[in-house]
Amino acid sequence: MQIAVFSARPYDRRFLEEANQREGAGQDFQFVYFDAALDVHTAALAQDCAAVCVFVNDRLDAPVLQALHALGVRAVLLRCAGFNNVDLASANALGLFVARVPAYSPEAVAEHALALVMTLNRHTHRAYNRVREGNFMLDGLLGRTLHGKTVGIVGTGKIGLATARIFRGMGCTVLGHDPYPSPAFAGIGAMVELDELLSRSDIVSLHCPLTPDTQHLIDDASLARMKPGAMLVNTSRGGLVDTHAVIRALKSRRLGHLAIDVYEQESALFFQDLSGEIIDDEAFQRLMTFPNVLVTGHQGFFTVEALQEISAITLGNLADFAAGRECGNRVAAG
Ligand code: NAI
Repeated sequence: MQIAVFSARPYDRRFLEEANQREGAGQDFQFVYFDAALDVHTAALAQDCAAVCVFVNDRLDAPVLQALHALGVRAVLLRCAGFNNVDLASANALGLFVARVPAYSPEAVAEHALALVMTLNRHTHRAYNRVREGNFMLDGLLGRTLHGKTVGIVGTGKIGLATARIFRGMGCTVLGHDPYPSPAFAGIGAMVELDELLSRSDIVSLHCPLTPDTQHLIDDASLARMKPGAMLVNTSRGGLVDTHAVIRALKSRRLGHLAIDVYEQESALFFQDLSGEIIDDEAFQRLMTFPNVLVTGHQGFFTVEALQEISAITLGNLADFAAGRECGNRVAAG
């Protein structure tokens, strides 16, 4: 069976091939790798493939799914947890098998959220460059002690819990908000309404999925409810935050710091080397002008351990599809 892997980077090839040798032994799975992202123009590359294997910025809307189905594709294997880029109703109507990797080293993303907070708070990115140039001045590097501060976790699922545990361990007061609270959160912090979380937290960290309900969860109104000078951290999905509202809040100095690993329009930018190009995204370029903004290019998941888990679980999902078995990681509409 051939599987078309879209948005394939060298690390995807390495970890999928290693997993195929272990988990796929005796199965005759052949991965065909394409650098291109999946969209209506590239769907034809999946010719002769029974499945496609995709990532966060591949586009699986109704026209793409119909094109894939017409080529004979019957399965969509997501190499990620989020599935907001898949039109599930269309996939269901076409009878496509859609499976994801619901959990892989949640600590990897939580630790990246911490890295963003620590970098932005203690200016280690600036200190690194300064010291290498022989500048040992401390002006401009003043941070805040995090011990005793309040951290609000929006979404207390796997990654939110892992993040909450880290900040609790640092001596922070942890607040959580989630319409389906996790019982495991009880021993870490208090569950509160979103408004209370926003108004009490020195750091607000987003860990909920992107759905129609959570689109622009952070907008002008919610930013106005945040503690003046607070830090907003988003390692979840770019669409949770209204970028223009955040720029307004940074300009008015209401928002103290912004750390993001995901960006609303990231599909045109992330996972590519655009260092020699003119970046035609005014909002992104504006964000880059703020000294109190830190952006990474969706690397929260990017650890050896997480990539090994993603590949192993993807192979398991593929094996379930090939055998016509029940698959616990299947995603259905509704
Ligand atoms: P999860 O499904 O374990 O937890 C998500 C939680 O959000 C659930 O408890 C759910 O009840 C809650 N939630 C839903 N709607 C909410 C709302 N309106 N307000 C507050 N909470 C709400 O998911 P997990 O594994 O913790 O992942 C969270 C998100 O992290 C994913 O949806 C994905 O978008 C993102 N992610 C980012 C990665 C990166 O590399 N930056 C890697 C992996 C995931």
